[in-house]
Amino acid sequence: MNELKHVAIIMDGNGRWAKKNRIKTALGHRRGVEALRDIIRYSSDEGIFALSIYAFSTENWKRSKEEIESLMQLIVDFFRSEIDELDEKNVNIRILGDINGLPEKQRTVVLKAQERTSNNTGLRLNIALNYGARAEIVHAAKQLAQKAFQGDLSVEEITEETFENHLYTVGLPPVDLLIRTSGEQRLSNFLLYQLAYAEMIFPEVLWPDYTVEMYQTHLKEFANRERRFGGRKG
Ligand code: FPP
Repeated sequence: MNELKHVAIIMDGNGRWAKKNRIKTALGHRRGVEALRDIIRYSSDEGIFALSIYAFSTENWKRSKEEIESLMQLIVDFFRSEIDELDEKNVNIRILGDINGLPEKQRTVVLKAQERTSNNTGLRLNIALNYGARAEIVHAAKQLAQKAFQGDLSVEEITEETFENHLYTVGLPPVDLLIRTSGEQRLSNFLLYQLAYAEMIFPEVLWPDYTVEMYQTHLKEFANRERRFGGRKG
């Protein structure tokens, strides 16, 4: 059985779910947050080490003003309503992405949540907000170049380990399992470096319909997959 330390989830299909149910997209996202709450609770109770979720990408700014506003509001509502329980469950919240590019209200709320849970030792809950993997990688490269230029680091010291220390996920293990709902089979600029050897599962279900039972099935499927990391079987 494979050891599972880090799960990543792309919560796709809220828009299609809303359309299917003839309601506004914003309500689809709201139902998506409800599904997310159950998955976080279960992950924490099961003792999973890290869960990374894609909440808002750098490309999501291209959506309508109305949809962006509803997502931004959901972010604030989520942190306000969940923070007490998450903190009580010893969940450690980390934001992946460029926090400075968020509106002030969202920035303040997420920074507070991060700060309040920073010493917690339970589930590492990583929430990607204003996140893009290419930008993350370029940012790490720039920081290393800067250090090398200043003479604080030699070129030989640029290794996978030092590189990883400059990613938002510093200190976390690589992703073992990626789940993307809604049947789309793409990475959409999510954790490109960290997903190098991840197993992937693409269930057809739309995210608001994703349940803990489905999650359990996917965790079991992962446990039984054969992982070789470039080596040979046996
Ligand atoms: C993809 O569905 C989902 C998103 C772009 C946002 C996911 C965000 C949430 C579930 C809520 C916010 C998160 C937190 C932590 C409060 P889509 O709209 O792309 O679906 P579609 O492809 O069917 O249109």
